[in-house]
Amino acid sequence: MPLSPPLGQHPRLLVTAGPTREPLDSVRYLSNRSSGRMGIAIAEAARARGWPTTLLLGPVDTPVEKSLDPIRFETTHELAQRLNEQWPTHDVLIMAAAVSDHRPTVVQEGKMHHEGDMLLTLKPTEDLLASLAERSRPDQVRIGFALEEPATMVDRARTKLQAKRLDAIVANPLSTMDAETVNAMLIDATSITESPANATKVEFARWLLEMVAARYSPGIVETTPVQGLDADA
Ligand code: CTP
Repeated sequence: MPLSPPLGQHPRLLVTAGPTREPLDSVRYLSNRSSGRMGIAIAEAARARGWPTTLLLGPVDTPVEKSLDPIRFETTHELAQRLNEQWPTHDVLIMAAAVSDHRPTVVQEGKMHHEGDMLLTLKPTEDLLASLAERSRPDQVRIGFALEEPATMVDRARTKLQAKRLDAIVANPLSTMDAETVNAMLIDATSITESPANATKVEFARWLLEMVAARYSPGIVETTPVQGLDADA
């Protein structure tokens, strides 16, 4: 089992980004509107800090720095396989992917035909972050994302933090999905920290990595501290 990096080395970061697609038949799928921009920004910011970074990327056309050479996935099952392959050789996971909570119980061969009302039966997908808790070294750090209605955001994010046994969770209001700017909170067992107001996704990514470096990854080298983005609430 690969050990954590010696003191003074950069953490090896694994980032997931983008939506999953769950096939209904040979031509249709269930998915969501995630563009992957947040996870891509995090991976690019980590690479700029000198952190060895692996990006697992769903089916999006959003441009990615060529040097990142993302590993692609489509379904939740494929993402689970990629995580199982990659997680043992990484130190920090930031799970920004918008993973489908359900998939069709039956995937039709060929194309379903238009025959009036249809009833789709869905079954839950595996909770990837929760199941990784069983297969992580004590020194590995797992950070999730929660996209929530503002009124219940903090409570629901805290519940997910515990249920998935995460080190921290980024709580975003639903409006973040299509927005240029982010107003999020980083929540862990003992603190809630607001991100800098109206940060772009790139600024937010830099801030988040500062937080990860300072709080959850002892012993790493700071290469590109971000000025003016330290906004502890
Ligand atoms: N996640 C996961 N596996 C799933 C669903 C979500 O690993 N099957 C991860 C997401 O990548 C995210 C975190 O769990 O980092 C929270 O995702 P979210 O969809 O907000 O939470 P759910 O547990 O799916 O709860 P709900 O959709 O009911 O709010």
